[in-house]
Amino acid sequence: MKLHAAILLTVATLAYGLQSTTTVFDMPGQSGDSRTFTTFVADLRAENFDGVIKSADNTGMWMYYDEINYSSDYGMNVVWGLNNDAEFDNTHAFSSIRYAGSSEDLYTSSFMVYEGDWFGGAEYYGETSIPSLSGLKVSSLVVIGDYAWTFYDYENWEGHCFCVYPDTSNEFPMEWSSSWR
Ligand SMILES: *[C@@H]1O[C@H](CO)[C@@H](O)[C@H](O)[C@H]1NC(C)=O
Repeated sequence: MKLHAAILLTVATLAYGLQSTTTVFDMPGQSGDSRTFTTFVADLRAENFDGVIKSADNTGMWMYYDEINYSSDYGMNVVWGLNNDAEFDNTHAFSSIRYAGSSEDLYTSSFMVYEGDWFGGAEYYGETSIPSLSGLKVSSLVVIGDYAWTFYDYENWEGHCFCVYPDTSNEFPMEWSSSWR
């Protein structure tokens, strides 16, 4: 009986403790020099890896920005999956990267809203209902996990609202919107 319980716990940990991680490479096809990240990197110069990323192996949803500090004004790429191999074309020279979702477990139900289109600039992360997004002017968003989320025009859940449902056909449930005005 005890052994059985222990095995179940191990399986649950494997399935639900998966951290967002990416390994980025300076050559196509997941080759060349590489770095592995599980945290936001606001300036890839600090990692000696600015402007050189040509491919990556992504677990979670990762955003690659052409400018430092997650500015999407000059372009960005977004990729997601489980050990998803991505190739980036030569029109991009990434200077910052970050992921969407929980820092501990990419299956945790959560939302992210961003001040810029295409997940740019300041972000607000939440796992529960909140009456205010702290004044952030929202231009794009991501939801991850099993919950559907309702977003409102005004504080205290007032005004027009719309629902965002995670797309369960992905390798993990998620949905995003790159802009609305
Ligand atoms: C990037 O962010 C850092 C830390 O907040 C700030 O000191 C710096 O001025 C920012 N640089 C740009 C170009 O936005």
